[in-house]
Amino acid sequence: MSNGLRRKLTSYGDQGFSLFLRKAFIKAMGYSDDALDRPIVGIANTYSDFNPCHGNVPQLIEATKRGVMLAGAMPMVFPTISIHESFASPTSMYLRNLMAMETEEMIRAQPMDAVVLIGGCDKTLPAQIMAAASSEIPAIFLPTGPMAVGHHKGERLGACTDCRRFWGRFRAGEIDEAEIAEVNNKLASSIGTCTVMGTASTMANLTEVMGLCLPRAGSAPAVESERVRLAEETGRVAARLAMDEAAPTVRDILTPQAIRNGLVALQAMGGSTNAVVHLAAITGRLGLRLDMAELDRLGRSIPLLVDLQPSGQHYMEQFHEAGGVPALLKAVRHEIDGSAPTVYGRTIGEIIDAVVDEPGQTIIRTIEKPLKPIGTIAVLHGNLAPRGAVIKQSAASKDLLQHTGRAVVFDSVEDMTLRIDSDDLDVHADDVLVLRNAGPKGAPGMPEAGYLPIPRKLARQGVKDMVRISDARMSGTAFGTIILHIAPEAADGGPLAIVRTGDRIRLDVEGRRIDLDIDQAEFDRRMLEVVNRPSPAPSRGYAKLYQERVLQADEGADFDFLQSEELDAR
Ligand code: FES
Ligand code: MG
Repeated sequence: MSNGLRRKLTSYGDQGFSLFLRKAFIKAMGYSDDALDRPIVGIANTYSDFNPCHGNVPQLIEATKRGVMLAGAMPMVFPTISIHESFASPTSMYLRNLMAMETEEMIRAQPMDAVVLIGGCDKTLPAQIMAAASSEIPAIFLPTGPMAVGHHKGERLGACTDCRRFWGRFRAGEIDEAEIAEVNNKLASSIGTCTVMGTASTMANLTEVMGLCLPRAGSAPAVESERVRLAEETGRVAARLAMDEAAPTVRDILTPQAIRNGLVALQAMGGSTNAVVHLAAITGRLGLRLDMAELDRLGRSIPLLVDLQPSGQHYMEQFHEAGGVPALLKAVRHEIDGSAPTVYGRTIGEIIDAVVDEPGQTIIRTIEKPLKPIGTIAVLHGNLAPRGAVIKQSAASKDLLQHTGRAVVFDSVEDMTLRIDSDDLDVHADDVLVLRNAGPKGAPGMPEAGYLPIPRKLARQGVKDMVRISDARMSGTAFGTIILHIAPEAADGGPLAIVRTGDRIRLDVEGRRIDLDIDQAEFDRRMLEVVNRPSPAPSRGYAKLYQERVLQADEGADFDFLQSEELDAR
């Protein structure tokens, strides 16, 4: 039996006195000795009035507590930071590492024998997995689940691919103020996470693929009773983990095989490019490096199988009805390592073997009949991206995947915001839009600014896509021919800093290259100027810590001191 309140006693005098004191205080909440002498399951509460994606957290906590108690352990709920995509300035990504640090330390500081981490909005599950991977306590995850779809004039609406689509139509003058206001009421029709294959859905599915949450917990809708039953069962499993001295930690579950299974699923499901950054941060916590070459190789051999927006047509509830993650894993069984363990004791192979096919479903395709013949994410290199860049080719325009065009450079997010809609902007449909100083250090926090809008004057002419490149990220719900995460970033001496408006940029996705087309002597001369340019540093607080210690995108934009020591020793 684990030790409940006895765990991690701080010493106020002798150990007996410490326990006496601890019990005396907690009894103020009305607990009995019988309750307090049981193994303790911590439950992280990420509810916030600012976070509609976590709107069902109170109900999930109640169900989780029920499961914990039915299995004979004692649940203790504690608060952590809550981050929503739209209410986190300057960007939610800037706060991900803070949440990871805070969650890790609260798990470590408080007496618990296992922990349930409930999260959903984009940065939350990544931060929680990073935290748990760095802590010694067994953990199980409970995604909050995707929201319901909305409806408008006979069309289904899903946040937030359709947010972009309708805003694009409004910018182009295709719909009026009244209609865009009506759409605004309908886009997020319930609590829960974005219902397309954006970052939240991708990370929830990957949590399931990598064995960290119960089967079907990645995709069950936020508002359905199945989600609540999954919470209860999560509580039971957490109690078992708390009672078992030999229970696996996240570190034991996240084997290299589990992470590779995650990459397979990421390619097959049309997952978000943000997952690449988060997986790199998570693997960094394990003393591993994310194998970008393997990610790219998998993208060449595994086609896009899942028909969800933004790469396809449908929404998470259809994915769930079609069998969800277990069915997806069955479709790519040949690439999956079935021996990978899970937090609930079965192997991933056993989950796949138990899949009963959903008759007639068309959402999860087979390898023989994929949705698109190409994988989701390609990894690019070239003189503009010495440490790599990514493109979500499944959501890009086919005719732009090989493209050479004239660079139109924006020096920062502010510069882009000021000039992109100007009628004086010298820009043409076959130009390449370049945004820099929007990476981890440059912005800071690597905002989702990589989805540069089509300049208004071109949008009015009907231009729907252009090649856009940056050191930023983009929302997993976005689409277009967009090269992201260029590393190193401009603000860290990367070559994106030397591009000038009028230069030619060559994109070759098939050849996995992104290059600035200038001669080498000129390239080198310009690079010398860049390296010597000092960048302004914040003088205090988290902003100072962030800029001094954040790593580049290829290392997950984690803080260097939070990675595993084994990686340091590499
Ligand atoms: Fe929270 Fe999309 S805004 S998941
Ligand atoms: Mg998002």
